[in-house]
Amino acid sequence: MTDERRQPTLLVVHHTPSPATRELLESVLGGANDPEIEGVTVRSLPALGATIPDVLAADGYVFGTSANFGYMSGALKHFFDTVYYPCLDAVAGRPYGLWVHGNNDTAGAVRSVDKIVAGLALTKVAQTVEVTDGIDARARELCYELGATVAVTLAEAQAARRSGGCDGK
Ligand SMILES: Cc1cc2nc3c(=O)[nH]c(=O)nc-3n(C[C@H](O)[C@H](O)[C@H](O)COP(=O)(O)O)c2cc1C
Repeated sequence: MTDERRQPTLLVVHHTPSPATRELLESVLGGANDPEIEGVTVRSLPALGATIPDVLAADGYVFGTSANFGYMSGALKHFFDTVYYPCLDAVAGRPYGLWVHGNNDTAGAVRSVDKIVAGLALTKVAQTVEVTDGIDARARELCYELGATVAVTLAEAQAARRSGGCDGK
């Protein structure tokens, strides 16, 4: 739970196995660190390196993955397998966003993440970004907005807590 004294943390958990996917990650991080968004700490961790304490210590999440065989990447699945039960009650209601990159079909990967985050009772605060094929300006822009939207959600919730106008999460 975030208290009004602590700066909220946005945790970006990603599987980015190629230059194209890393480019999307950089756009997400650019948006999350937009200078106009104040008071949010942004952490970025590869899915195979993110731990239960990392998840518990964060206040909101952006997940990023490649589409692999019609599912999320094995790395992101391993992350969810690791953190799901230990974090189940603690993270309910926290905001999240998702981006998926694939060659031609990201639907199954999106569905697979949606099912797990529904189980965790996370709150989707930004439209999922699905990018197929090459990275263009539009894809970069959507990923920037994704990171910024989740970060702004955390900043606004914290501002509301500080002014006493929100019960917090
Ligand atoms: C084992 C494997 C399975 C894949 N399965 C899918 C898939 O089901 N749908 C899809 O759109 N792309 C699929 N891809 C493509 C990856 O999503 C893509 O390679 C990844 O997002 C990185 O993009 P890049 O190779 O253009 O850099 C697969 C790639 C691999 C290596």
